[in-house]
Amino acid sequence: MTTFVTMEKAIQHELRLSERMSRLGTETAFEVLNQARALERQGKNIVHLEIGEPDFDTPKNIIDAAVNALQKGWTHYGPSAGLPDLRQAIGEEVSRSRGVTVNADEVVVVPGGKPIIFFTMLALIDRGDEVIYPNPGFPIYESMIEYLGGKAIPIRLREERDFGLDVNELASLITDRTKLIIVNSPQNPTGGVLGEADIRDIAGVIGDRNILVLSDEIYSRLIFEGKHHSILSVAGFKDRTILLDGFSKTYAMTGWRMGYGVMRSDLATYITRLMTNSNSCTASFTQVAGIEALRGDQSSVDRMRGEFQRRRDAFVAGLNRIKGFSCRMPKGAFYVFPNIMETRWKSKKLAGALLEEAGVACLSGTAFGDYGEGYLRFSVANSLENLHKALDRIDQWTKRIL
Ligand SMILES: Cc1ncc(COP(=O)(O)O)c(C=O)c1O
Repeated sequence: MTTFVTMEKAIQHELRLSERMSRLGTETAFEVLNQARALERQGKNIVHLEIGEPDFDTPKNIIDAAVNALQKGWTHYGPSAGLPDLRQAIGEEVSRSRGVTVNADEVVVVPGGKPIIFFTMLALIDRGDEVIYPNPGFPIYESMIEYLGGKAIPIRLREERDFGLDVNELASLITDRTKLIIVNSPQNPTGGVLGEADIRDIAGVIGDRNILVLSDEIYSRLIFEGKHHSILSVAGFKDRTILLDGFSKTYAMTGWRMGYGVMRSDLATYITRLMTNSNSCTASFTQVAGIEALRGDQSSVDRMRGEFQRRRDAFVAGLNRIKGFSCRMPKGAFYVFPNIMETRWKSKKLAGALLEEAGVACLSGTAFGDYGEGYLRFSVANSLENLHKALDRIDQWTKRIL
């Protein structure tokens, strides 16, 4: 017979985390969303301009393809690198849009764009390796570099350069330890877009050094003026570029969790091994719907882009009428990044006050790094009606308080 020893008092065991956990950052958008939800539970009305996801439903042809795939039994494990047909479709799409030949074995399908950031760095970065990344920029870059013991080297994106980067500054940051440079265009949080000349200049500064470029192009289809340009297209850079793109923003599929990386096939093998070790594979029926997303009717992409543009125009014009705010016209993505220095408030305090006192949820520029001080980020992925409501509330609040 087994006897159980019952203890009088439960021991409180210390949580012994790995040392590296102390270096893992986060994405503030999710925290602000929680705060906003808590205020809503207290009966407050909040306009949500904090979270970066399209407010549109996923187009019907894509949903139908997923439902159909489920009914046809696409409910099993698939290959870790992605379904061959989807990898082929992505290869064709990237070949067409970036003007280089991309084969299926250079594509890895993963659950969202984020895992490409994570896996690329896991595969490449050793302690002390330097990674140059945009600041203000998507916070996950800095978080991952530091988590892995790499050295995070920020390159400042300056408002007076329309939030593009200064190639001379980039040149001055490159050292013998530089292993990876992250570029992001269209950019989160500034909406900045790198033009053809910018991309050529960045490539010129890197020259023929053995430095890889993680080119985060998750907003590649959300450009309002001009065309999208990728360093993948520059001669001599295909083997040194890891392109990140996906379905979340283009097709309003944030909750589906599907994205991809395009990279040299030997690196793709290692990224695939990381997939085998972590997720096994991206959901099979989701991938079948991904083929429809890429090959099916694209009119919904154009419609959503047109709507984001109307909202951007209205919101930027409205912000520029508010005391203490001045805002450039972002050329891509669905973010607006006004300068609030004339309010003389720190960004975090101002974002907090707008949430608590004006009922508008937005993010402090510092959620995107130290160089985001002096700015706020608003997502225009909300209805025109709600955007106008937010503008009225901010205007009234500034008239009362500033
Ligand atoms: C610049 C950038 N890269 C990557 C991602 C991640 O996208 P996903 O939701 O597909 O993981 C985001 C999402 O906000 C982003 O803004």
